[in-house]
Amino acid sequence: MVDSSSKSKAKPLSRRTIFKMGLATGIAVPMSAFGQPPARMRPQPGDQLVFEEGPHQDQLVRADLLELEQKPVSAMARDPQTKVLRDGSRLNRVMITRIDTEKMTARYQGNAAEGVIAYSAVCTHTGCDVINWDAGELNMACPCHESQFDIYDGGKVVGGPAPRPLAMLPLEVVDGVITVAAEFRGRVGFTQQF
Ligand code: FES
Repeated sequence: MVDSSSKSKAKPLSRRTIFKMGLATGIAVPMSAFGQPPARMRPQPGDQLVFEEGPHQDQLVRADLLELEQKPVSAMARDPQTKVLRDGSRLNRVMITRIDTEKMTARYQGNAAEGVIAYSAVCTHTGCDVINWDAGELNMACPCHESQFDIYDGGKVVGGPAPRPLAMLPLEVVDGVITVAAEFRGRVGFTQQF
């Protein structure tokens, strides 16, 4: 016989229980299930990119606002419905520039939108912001220990101690605006080395 009273007294699952269930079953639990504030959520498909710095600060990103192979500038994702800027975590920051897509390694070309590409700003070594630029080699560079990342080859490490490529954010163009097409490819952040 079914004990209906136990049903009616069922408590909502706690965050810890949901997390354990995910570990036990191997099924990924969406971050939103934890009630994570929207501003802290990683860029979501459909989000629009907004310039965080430079002459177009706070404007929506459009391809014609970026020079070809210019020094990357930082940008954040914004939910177009709620207008929430996902600036609640530095792991959400991306560096964007515009490239000649034909010159890019074929497997990454689909992540570009009218030549605009976006990489995580967080170095995979010990987490500094990758804000420097080698205009001669077209590499993003980390100021802390001089790791270098090839923007034409999926953020591949081409110098320094970083252990893996920068995560790449796939983009598309929607109504002329650079928009997030999918979640980050690759792990965002770093693994402590010491
Ligand atoms: Fe970037 Fe060390 S944190 S190279």
